[in-house]
Amino acid sequence: MDSEKPPFRRSQAWFGRQDRDGFVHRSWIKNQGYPHDLLDGRPIIGICNTWSELTPCNGHFRELAEFVKRGVYEAGGFPLEFPVMSLGETQLRPTAMLFRNLASMDVEESIRGNPIDGVVLLMGCDKTTPSLMMGAASCDLPTIGLSGGPMLNGKFRGKDVGSGTGVWQMSEMVRAGEMTMAEFSSCESDMHRSSGTCMTMGTASTMASMVEALGMALPENAAIPAADTRRKRLAQLTGRRIVEMVKQDIKMSQIMTRQAFENAIRTNAAIGGSTNAVIHLLAIAGRIGVDLKLEDFDKLGSEVNNILNLQPSGKYLMEDFCYAGGLPAVMREILPMLHGDALTVNGKTIRENVANAPCYNRDVIKTVDDPFMPAAGIAVVRGNLAPNGAVIKPSAASKHLLQHRGPAVVFESIEEFHAKIDDPDLDIDENSVMVLKNCGPRGYPGMAEVGNMPLPPKVLKKGITDMVRISDARMSGTAYGTTVLHTSPEAAAGGPLAVVQNGDMIELNVPERKLHLEISDEELARRLALWKSPEKPKRGWYKLYVETVQQAHLGADLDFLVGGSGAAVPRDSH
Ligand code: FES
Repeated sequence: MDSEKPPFRRSQAWFGRQDRDGFVHRSWIKNQGYPHDLLDGRPIIGICNTWSELTPCNGHFRELAEFVKRGVYEAGGFPLEFPVMSLGETQLRPTAMLFRNLASMDVEESIRGNPIDGVVLLMGCDKTTPSLMMGAASCDLPTIGLSGGPMLNGKFRGKDVGSGTGVWQMSEMVRAGEMTMAEFSSCESDMHRSSGTCMTMGTASTMASMVEALGMALPENAAIPAADTRRKRLAQLTGRRIVEMVKQDIKMSQIMTRQAFENAIRTNAAIGGSTNAVIHLLAIAGRIGVDLKLEDFDKLGSEVNNILNLQPSGKYLMEDFCYAGGLPAVMREILPMLHGDALTVNGKTIRENVANAPCYNRDVIKTVDDPFMPAAGIAVVRGNLAPNGAVIKPSAASKHLLQHRGPAVVFESIEEFHAKIDDPDLDIDENSVMVLKNCGPRGYPGMAEVGNMPLPPKVLKKGITDMVRISDARMSGTAYGTTVLHTSPEAAAGGPLAVVQNGDMIELNVPERKLHLEISDEELARRLALWKSPEKPKRGWYKLYVETVQQAHLGADLDFLVGGSGAAVPRDSH
């Protein structure tokens, strides 16, 4: 590719005019102290920032943006930072996922409506990555993703503790009477002790890895800790590179091809990534026009060995992953399974980027021949209980439960679950199958991360730590257990999950990819005919969302947002 200017730079439709509107566009920008020559036709780089004190994982992004700007200036571009809706996983109710598509609309329209030639996406906490990738994909300008990086390892009483995973483990210990509430609370200040995202292989780390595996970020984006100066250096290099990408006119659609998504799916299996990657990659693919299906995750990823010994499936944390070589070392190990020719944002192929990537710790990053866990990618199960599929992450499940048959214990809502689960008289034991309804995209609304229901105390007290759980919800990427998730259609859309009753026998057979409710077709049809849709929200975003959200197997995007509208310059504003 040559470095010549493309024939048209869209920012010049604002700044390159010698008329009244050109005056308006330039003059108001100059009120921030910028000299005139920054508007002389050089690439204008939008820095799409999800900084917010209510998104603590992205709390360091104002500083990170300054390093991106350094790089943009060095390369002869002009950076302009802009905010978009920021989604904080730990604070936002009812669930950050309810707003992923809303934030993506903000990103898309902010990019298209402004004088921007190329974009750097500053992403960190779980939903901030897919929302920015989705919105930017619908515009399809030259774009680079830059993740904020994980937190340093949590340290509690001399041991490592992982974000989320440690919370789930210790809260189960409290419920089992093995830890006091005071001991549990004393970990609060120790688990999260630096800026950055969850340092387990949760959804944030998974999605940062997916951005890198897709070729949409510079190598090493996924694992460098937020507090490590190398993260700032990466930001500066990202700023330099996006200017070159604009000059070379390399668009997102040239990088995010079907091959890139296949690379991402295989990489997700190799890192034992979150089930949330399924729903987000489906949605991103939908925006860029790549035909990706739920089955692709099973077909391409389920036989790939997990070679990364990281929590929640394994032992280590993201800081260890970085020091062991990071994602390039994983991708080098699975390179024969990848499309090595896929282009990445630095202008090189995946093969060129990772072929010589070193590994410094084989206990953290294993090999394909001596994996951490064999064939551990995401499995898609189907049957009369999930006609459009449901997902399970075998690497986070108990092996002996991957084939299980047991009676259903049904909870119509998460509130009912919380009200009943600690009741010693609840008719439940370790053979039961816990069924949670109305937590899908429409039902919650927003498809909350409640699928990893805590176990009842009377089961925990027997020393049992896992049971089969089925829902239309999602699960935190930091969580674990034999949990069937994303059941589609969901209960609130009239899926068969809605009519499961206490005592119904359910068979889960992951090797055969089967999820079966043992009632006759006639009985199932009879129950479904009696089912009544829950009341729908009457106004605002909730109403628009519930009326237009697609089911989980399609990525839970709004139906009218699938695809893109490009980045043609909109009509004049004055
Ligand atoms: Fe923000 Fe985990 S809560 S990354």
